[in-house]
Amino acid sequence: MSNNEQQKRAAAEAAYEYVVEGEYLGVGTGSTVNHFIDVLAERRPAIKGCVSSSEATTARLKRAGFDVETLNFAGDLSVYVDGADEVSPQLALIKGGGGAMTREKIIAQVSDTFVCMVDTSKQVDVLGAFPLPIEVIEMGRSAVARALVKMGGLPELREDFRSDNGHPIIDVYNLDLTDPKAVEARINAIPGVVTVGLFAQRPADVLIVAGADGVTTKKR
Ligand code: A5P
Repeated sequence: MSNNEQQKRAAAEAAYEYVVEGEYLGVGTGSTVNHFIDVLAERRPAIKGCVSSSEATTARLKRAGFDVETLNFAGDLSVYVDGADEVSPQLALIKGGGGAMTREKIIAQVSDTFVCMVDTSKQVDVLGAFPLPIEVIEMGRSAVARALVKMGGLPELREDFRSDNGHPIIDVYNLDLTDPKAVEARINAIPGVVTVGLFAQRPADVLIVAGADGVTTKKR
C-alpha cells in the first residue's frame, strides 16, 4: 500500500470509532470511503444498515454484506462518514470530485454528526484551489455557466460524465471562496443548479486528518 493509501486507511480506522451500533450509518463516496468500507467489512459492527451516497458505494457495501436502505426509509441519521476534496480551518468543504455531492449533501443535512476523513494535502486556508463541482440540469448548463462567469469563475463541463442522478457536472475554477457560505447561497439561487459542491452552510462536525505523523482529530 502506498503512503497515501496507508494514510487513508488510518483515517478510516479513526472514523470507525464514530460508528453507532443499532442505527443506520450514512456512508459517502470516494477512495477514502472505500477504505472505511473495508474497515466496516473487517469489524462488522451491529448496525441496522447503511444509507449510501452513490451507486458505487452501494455496490461496495452490498458486496461486503451490508444492507443498504433508502434515506426515505431510514430517516435522520446519527452519523455520516465521508471524504472531501478540500477542507478549510472552519471545516467547510469542497466535495464532488467523484460527482456524488447531491446525495452527499442530502445525507449530511440530516445527520447529527458528519465525520470527514482527509489527508493533510486537502487542508487549505481558503477553499478554491480544487475546482468547485456543480451538478446542473442539462437544459440549463450554458445559462448556469454564464452566470458563473459573471461571478468571476471559469466553468468547464466535465467531459463524458453524468452523475448518478443523470445530470452533467460543471467544474468551476478561479472563484473567490473567501466567504464560502455566501457563495454557496448565491450559486444555489441560480436556476438550473441542482447542487453546488460547497459544504459551508452545513460543514463537517468532526475532521479526521491523516498525515505522515499519524492521525489528528478536530471538532467544530
Ligand atoms: C465524491 O463526489 C466526493 O465528494 C468525495 O467525497 C471526494 O472526492 C473525496 O474522495 P477521495 O476520498 O477519493 O479523495
